[in-house]
Amino acid sequence: MSDAAEPLLRATRLVKEFNVHGGGLLGRTAKLRAVDDVSLEVRAGETLALVGESGSGKSTTARLVARLVDLTSGDIEFAGRPVHALTGKALHAYRSEVQMVFQDPYSSLNPKHSVERIVTAPLVYQKRPVPGGARAFTKALMERVGLNPDHSARFPAQFSGGQAQRIGIARALAVAPKLIIADEAVSALDVSVQAQVINLLRRLQDEEGFSYLFIAHDLAVVRQIATRVAVMSEGRIVETGDRDQVFEEPRDPYTRKLLAAVPRIRPEWDAARRRNEAARLERERQEADR
Ligand SMILES: Nc1ncnc2c1ncn2[C@@H]1O[C@H](COP(=O)(O)OP(=O)(O)O)[C@@H](O)[C@H]1O
Ligand SMILES: [Mg+2]
Repeated sequence: MSDAAEPLLRATRLVKEFNVHGGGLLGRTAKLRAVDDVSLEVRAGETLALVGESGSGKSTTARLVARLVDLTSGDIEFAGRPVHALTGKALHAYRSEVQMVFQDPYSSLNPKHSVERIVTAPLVYQKRPVPGGARAFTKALMERVGLNPDHSARFPAQFSGGQAQRIGIARALAVAPKLIIADEAVSALDVSVQAQVINLLRRLQDEEGFSYLFIAHDLAVVRQIATRVAVMSEGRIVETGDRDQVFEEPRDPYTRKLLAAVPRIRPEWDAARRRNEAARLERERQEADR
């Protein structure tokens, strides 16, 4: 068994630069640091939420961790093994341990494929046998994510947005991953559907014990699911902490700004944060007076 203190995922000093074309007559290329010295850990069975405004580098961080894009520099360790240099078969094996669920289920699920084909594809692709056969396997997975198993021959367009997202979740579960990266996975859903899918994600985690790297810009959503929170701004992580600490006693000015801008946040969280904010200002005033 691995050491309990050993995180499932440890990303150290990740950097990703993109070449961006400046335009103009000279057509000069500039480098954009989408991810700038990011370190984070995800522990076994927990949910690390990565929050921040659009363009702050959350998705790029996710894609680096999933090895969907190459690092400019940095190290990634998964279950104690380095994965930043994996290639070939070993990279494929890693990619089944780390699954992604994306924001838009309709564009991330092949519209021409049935649910059965979609959820068994990761296994077929890896030439792994489908336990119990494709039909029974699909039906069992559909039940686990709250879909009608009689609909296994249907296509993504025949499902609502929330149901389609459940297909994406079923596809991720098919290979029994240790980490699921949910990149704005509930962001496009209505609030009531969002709550149902969040409950599903939590229940599945309780049952299976896998971890989430849960990416969202909506802090009200994050509050419902996170164990810990990392706040990202302009390619950097500005604050990491336990959920309640980050929500109620944010240390970084950017985190405070982000929290102040949330309209849907529950009043009681707001009250706790305002009390702490008032206490902090009072402490600072007293220190300044000394
Ligand atoms: N493939 C790419 N080529 C060039 N720039 C990119 C690419 N992917 C992302 N970026 C840029 O990197 C920055 C971070 O983007 P992203 O990781 O998508 O942020 P977020 O998910 O937080 O909205 C943005 O400025 C974005 O335009
Ligand atoms: Mg994104």
